[in-house]
Amino acid sequence: RAKVPFTNEAFVDFSQEENRRAQEEAIAQVRSELGRTYPLIIGGKHITTEKTFASLNPSHPDQVIGHFASATVEQANEAVKVAAETFETWKRVPAEERAGYLFAAADLMRQRRFYFNAWMIFEVGKNWAEADGDTAEAIDFLEYYAREIMRLAGDQPIPPVAGEDNKFVYIPLGVGAVIPPWNFPTAITVGMTSASFVSGNTVVLKPASTSAGIAYQFVRLLEEVGLPAGVVNYLSGSGSTIGDALVDNTNVRFISFTGSREVGLRIYERASKAPKGQRWLKRTVLEMGGKDGIVVDETADLDAAAAAIAVSAFGFQGQKCSAGSRAIVVEQVYDEVLSKVVEKTKAITMGDVTQQSTYLGPVVDENAMKKILEYIEIGKSEGHLVTGGGHQGPGYFIEPTIFADVAPDARIAQEEIFGPVLAFIKAKDFDEALDIANNTEYGLTGALFSRDEKRLERAYADFHVGNLYLNRKCTGALVGGQPFGGFNMSGTDSKAGGPDYLLLFTQGKSISKKR
Ligand code: NAD
Ligand code: ALA
Repeated sequence: RAKVPFTNEAFVDFSQEENRRAQEEAIAQVRSELGRTYPLIIGGKHITTEKTFASLNPSHPDQVIGHFASATVEQANEAVKVAAETFETWKRVPAEERAGYLFAAADLMRQRRFYFNAWMIFEVGKNWAEADGDTAEAIDFLEYYAREIMRLAGDQPIPPVAGEDNKFVYIPLGVGAVIPPWNFPTAITVGMTSASFVSGNTVVLKPASTSAGIAYQFVRLLEEVGLPAGVVNYLSGSGSTIGDALVDNTNVRFISFTGSREVGLRIYERASKAPKGQRWLKRTVLEMGGKDGIVVDETADLDAAAAAIAVSAFGFQGQKCSAGSRAIVVEQVYDEVLSKVVEKTKAITMGDVTQQSTYLGPVVDENAMKKILEYIEIGKSEGHLVTGGGHQGPGYFIEPTIFADVAPDARIAQEEIFGPVLAFIKAKDFDEALDIANNTEYGLTGALFSRDEKRLERAYADFHVGNLYLNRKCTGALVGGQPFGGFNMSGTDSKAGGPDYLLLFTQGKSISKKR
């Protein structure tokens, strides 16, 4: 199977009656499972804790998705100990066998596609298509990293040296703390976890609390495909308490994190310490936020640009690191693009994401809602509110919101809001638009709409983002074809789903034998 070239998983076509029915049945299935209590999983043991926390349905916050064990610091340390013990055997398992678990997990996830989609619809408020894209990406990561480890397994090609037999191999690192965000709760969790263990490492997976249920479903799936106990340990609980404990633990060899800039910087700093007894420099793979811009010049296809701006800004309620939260448009076509985007935004349906017809769901929790509403208030003094701005309860629904005539240095043009709020910024010409696009501490995604080849080439060289898109939306990177990761404060540019990724989870060893 590893020899069959990788291809991306197709998205489900929900216009087909049988797919629609299958999704509705899975929604009914997950609905019937809501409110259960879930344990920690450490070394294959299912451990219930006295203290639990609830993950809520953001569309109906009075509906409990599940009660999750709240691990203590002692349990976090125990999970690392078990992972360290398991590493001694797991690191000797051949790469082909490790890859086999990923292929088996991909197959089972394909069978459970609608079920995983339904979990995301309930637990984080994804609409059907967004949920399905997330599951498809998770399957892609499994298929891609299984092939990648086979590419990296065994002796690597190196030039000969007279009189010696030389080998160069990649070996695993040790125990990894895997700390994903909630916004791609299947794809990113699966990607970071599977990259870690397929490379021969063992893992303590600390899921985001607002998507603890989805991560649990994945860990259960790994149990079902027979992954040995202790290779992936599931440790739900408070990010700050057990997150710090994992990061500080001297037996943790690496930390794979995706999330906010604030937490990423905290991990970066804490992981740089090497207390007595720690034998290594901890490796950190940190992917963080974005303030991504879409530039439109006067030569562009304005309809295509407007469609891409709306999708990039409001897909999954703007809660993507890749979201196009700034539209930077040259003054010649500014009013026209703005009016096209406003028209599309007003047509967006918001509400019950268990219905196929709904486009916009809720934001993930009350804290997110409050933070976004605060930014909307700030925006009222920084720009001109042209549509949206309101909240609709009882769920955490925020209308898709556009501010026009925002200054490039305004807070809503600089700070990651992580919600359905779009700032329109006017530029006098293309050069100024590109400067504005680059005027950010982040550098994750960006797009340019133009028919001018010279400008497209200029963007190629000077638009300083990890993922640049020309004449298309700035969200929806595909595993393999568009390795994903950002520059500057967007993180370590780890390029998930790309050929460099597994190198971050391995270390090179050179072995030289005199003939
Ligand atoms: P977050 O930083 O609040 O949480 C991320 C993870 O860190 C969670 O599992 C959380 O429990 C954990 N955590 C919290 N405190 C911790 C601590 N002290 N030590 C260790 N772990 C701790 O982010 P979020 O709200 O889950 O996700 C949204 C953010 O993620 C946005 O900024 C978004 O841009 C970013 N993101 C980036 C990418 C990317 O590839 N660059 C992808 C998706 C999301
Ligand atoms: N990989 C996700 C995207 O490209 C974040 O939208």
